[in-house]
Amino acid sequence: MKPEQVRDWVRAARRIVVLSGAGMSAESGVPTFRDAQTGLWARFRPQELATEEGFRAQPQLVWDWYAERRAQIAQVAPNAGHRAIAAFQQRHPGRLAVVTQNVDGLHQRAGSPGVLALHGSIMEDRWLEPPRACCTAEDAVPGRPPRCAACGNLRRPAVVWFGELLPEQALAAAEQAAAACDLMLVVGTSGVVYPAAGLARATRGRVVIVNPQASDLDDAADAVLRGTAASLLPLLLAD
Ligand code: APR
Repeated sequence: MKPEQVRDWVRAARRIVVLSGAGMSAESGVPTFRDAQTGLWARFRPQELATEEGFRAQPQLVWDWYAERRAQIAQVAPNAGHRAIAAFQQRHPGRLAVVTQNVDGLHQRAGSPGVLALHGSIMEDRWLEPPRACCTAEDAVPGRPPRCAACGNLRRPAVVWFGELLPEQALAAAEQAAAACDLMLVVGTSGVVYPAAGLARATRGRVVIVNPQASDLDDAADAVLRGTAASLLPLLLAD
């Protein structure tokens, strides 16, 4: 399958969903999850750190890991793939919906409207325990992590950790978009984490995978394009 043929599918599609994963941001310089963890974190697996148990056991370590990732993400910019999606949405309002597993906010920074962020946002925090009247974010005592001065409730990254439920509204909207679309571009995901990956199996539309390597969703695809997000998306989404 040639990218030009998929571009024709894009042109013919009335409703498109982009389902993106960490590979979408790789060319912005954000390491993907299943690349080898680099530097300080080489001895940890994300699955150990990105869990509530991991955070409760070692709050400072997990907080520092997210602080390092936030600092990294603050330094990077959306790439040509993010920009091609946002430009298409600009030219064709309401025709393309972005559903992402990424927490880096790069689709939003590229200008994509209404991004359905299934795994939350790394740039935001929330309370670990259900907040009481005393828990006000602005009065949190600075620390690693910050905490409520009155009851000691901890702040935690507002991301979905392994084993946690996805934000209900975002997931419902993503399921609706997947059910209604004519075409789903699955970009930069290994397809191993559900329910996000399940959207590519539940969609009524044609499924196109954009990934330089094989993924667990290749068998569900009508077309597999072996290439990167920043190189292929500008081509696929050109008018
Ligand atoms: N363009 C497109 N795809 C790429 C690129 C690129 N430039 N570089 C790498 N990839 C692909 C890899 O081949 C891989 O299939 O991106 C995929 C990244 O896979 P993962 O690291 O597993 O990331 P993702 O699929 O988003 O993980 C899903 O798992 O770790 C949890 O919650 C976390 O949202 C994450 C979820």
